[in-house]
Amino acid sequence: MAAGLTIKPAQGKLGILTPGMGAVSTTFMGGVEAVRRGMRLPIGSLTQMGHIRLGKRTDNRQPLVRNFVPLADLNDIVFGGWDIFADSAHEAAVKAGVLERHVLEELRPFLSEIRPMPAVFDNYYVKKLDGTNVKKGRNKMALAEAIMRDIEEFKKANGCDRIVMVWCGSTEIFLTRTAVHQSLAAFEKGLTENHPDIAPSMIYAYAATRLGIPYANGAPNHSADLPANEDLAKREGSPICGKDFKTGQTLLKTVLAPGFKARLLGVSGWFSTNILGNRDGEVLDDPESFKTKEESKLGVLDSILQPELYPDLYGNLYHKVRINYYPPRGDNKEGWDNIDIFGWMGMPMQIKVDFLCRDSILAAPIVLDLALFLDLAKRAGMSGIQEWLSFFFKSPVVPDNLRPEHDLFIQHTKLKNTLRWMMGEDQITHLGREYYDES
Ligand SMILES: NC(=O)c1ccc[n+]([C@@H]2O[C@H](COP(=O)([O-])OP(=O)(O)OC[C@H]3O[C@@H](n4cnc5c(N)ncnc54)[C@H](O)[C@@H]3O)[C@@H](O)[C@H]2O)c1
Repeated sequence: MAAGLTIKPAQGKLGILTPGMGAVSTTFMGGVEAVRRGMRLPIGSLTQMGHIRLGKRTDNRQPLVRNFVPLADLNDIVFGGWDIFADSAHEAAVKAGVLERHVLEELRPFLSEIRPMPAVFDNYYVKKLDGTNVKKGRNKMALAEAIMRDIEEFKKANGCDRIVMVWCGSTEIFLTRTAVHQSLAAFEKGLTENHPDIAPSMIYAYAATRLGIPYANGAPNHSADLPANEDLAKREGSPICGKDFKTGQTLLKTVLAPGFKARLLGVSGWFSTNILGNRDGEVLDDPESFKTKEESKLGVLDSILQPELYPDLYGNLYHKVRINYYPPRGDNKEGWDNIDIFGWMGMPMQIKVDFLCRDSILAAPIVLDLALFLDLAKRAGMSGIQEWLSFFFKSPVVPDNLRPEHDLFIQHTKLKNTLRWMMGEDQITHLGREYYDES
């Protein structure tokens, strides 16, 4: 067995701060409180319900992940966040309409106490929204400093030992990385000069990273994934990861596509369409925000199927993704997939998937797992991009010279092997010769 990392214990309170206190964030906060009160189980959470195999299959060692690695206890978590609307977490959760009314009623005293801090926001980056709970500042650097002050004050007021930030804000317009993102000096100059290529989410990411705080991005827009911020993260010892929570349709895509490829089945077309009626759907109705999401959703298949290696199977794949805002559905999305595949002798077949999912129900446990794993990484001295957390994302952030890994099962293996590595346990390769070796 290897030595493993030295990991500081998870002592004291952990503050989890979310820029954006809408459907995902409040479903996460309310859900964790419901679990703490014994009202519900933390279903969908790898840190809370997952087991990890250690050693040989015959060893029978399969502890719960949370008993294997030193994670923060749910009872030690304190919640906070920012939003452009001044609604408390209870009011926002009622509007989002994800959790049942009677559950929200029971949680009302707890959720009503969580009030959003004024946000850093500019309607140029999210066209469909406008709110009044917004900070004013001399320039973007002053706004970043205001976020840093918020964090320090939150930490003090709540007696927190450590803080993690998870972006649960709306999807911003599509921006490409330009010169201002390439170095920390250029980025800081851009903050002072109000450069238009610096979006609000980048200001939160910068503020967190400057304080050495871990940061995860749940939306598809660029925020911490900029060379400037990646350098800063290394310097300040801040683990960062992203982006775009892998939930409904893309989750299924990254389950199905590896299966087709493993069996060398061809795919000629994959048409995905969605109807959803929550605020996220409304924001994505704006073509500029949709473009950010589209890029994130489209990247998945190419990277899993590798058409350049398998031109006969995937070289002519037509992939289309649509999102339609349809208010009557609220958060209860419906995602249809029509998949045209072909097999032996080129014979065509079709698969239809109709997933009636609840977006925020799938996203909430991801917020919890990310916060707990990032806090673990921070205490283990890991900084910069945390690729082992790709499992949770549609567009995993990796260094520019690497292809991201999208296959859910490889991502899962990578995550578990990282935990084993951190704790000095043997890697599991699934070779399995040891069970048959007679020497
Ligand atoms: N639900 C899912 O399954 C899922 C999956 C992948 C990604 N996401 C992404 O997660 C994010 C949150 O989703 P949601 O369903 O909770 O959306 P939501 O619209 O309910 O909540 C987002 C909140 O962010 C706030 N906001 C926007 N800009 C802000 C800023 N600069 N600072 C502070 N607050 C700001 C909005 O006012 C809103 O209350 C979206 O970007 C969405 O695309 C969600």
